[in-house]
Amino acid sequence: MSGPSLALDTPELARHYEAISRERQFKAGLELLASLRLRPGEQLLDIGCGTGLLATRAADTVGPTGAVIAIDPLATRIEIAQRRSRPNLTFAVGNAYVLDAFEPASFDVVYLNAVFHWLDDKPAALAQIHRVLRPGGRIGIATGSREHPGVLQRIREEVLARPEYAAYPLRGAAQRICAAELSALLAAAGFAAARIDIQPNEQVHADAEAAIAFAQASSFGNFLGHLPEPLRIRARDQIRVALDEQRQGSSIAQEGARLFAIALRA
Ligand SMILES: C[S@@+](CC[C@H](N)C(=O)[O-])C[C@H]1O[C@@H](n2cnc3c(N)ncnc32)[C@H](O)[C@@H]1O
Repeated sequence: MSGPSLALDTPELARHYEAISRERQFKAGLELLASLRLRPGEQLLDIGCGTGLLATRAADTVGPTGAVIAIDPLATRIEIAQRRSRPNLTFAVGNAYVLDAFEPASFDVVYLNAVFHWLDDKPAALAQIHRVLRPGGRIGIATGSREHPGVLQRIREEVLARPEYAAYPLRGAAQRICAAELSALLAAAGFAAARIDIQPNEQVHADAEAAIAFAQASSFGNFLGHLPEPLRIRARDQIRVALDEQRQGSSIAQEGARLFAIALRA
């Protein structure tokens, strides 16, 4: 399985993400920032900043003597982020695998909120982060846990395993890992004292359609993006029906869990 496509996002998906992430990824991100114990004056790098809600909060936390650079490969998302102007906040199109624009040891903190599971070459990204963090600097990661897949992920896999979709190589699924794997990756990349917490992540959606729209926007179009349009529509319908069958009460509850990791650059 290869990594997600960065060519499937649209302005509509970016706008939808901006609207829905405030109650979801943003709240998890606030917990991540709290665990990082940000201090005034610190220099931060937000990798995969999306539409920039969390980076804005981080910029306010480190104050006028600190600064946040926030990057994301999707121009659609950066365009929305750039409307959040702050003197100590810079948004730019950029990629976790290419941090050459930054000097070695130039950040106190690097964080990735709801991004790490989208990286198919995690050691390469961690090597880049290690280079730009100062010794003793902190890395913070909040990411989905592979051991706790939500119902929508399971249904997506079941539907896409059907013969009509099998000819299209599955790509773009989030590549979640478990806590032990994350701990090993951090150690191998030269990070020490990793603390990893697993926390429940229950997401409630008004209906199956809303749950699918959330997945589409959060995956920047990768949820079913590998399929040609007629098949995509059919798969979406089948997923919606299967999800509705699992409905309990008036809404769809997606159980799951997030990993929160904080580690130090040795
Ligand atoms: C679910 S969103 C999270 C956005 C934001 N961090 C937040 O908390 O709302 C995942 C983000 O990861 C970004 N992403 C995917 N691949 C990336 C890569 N190779 N480097 C940096 N960011 C990446 C996507 O563009 C997308 O904006």
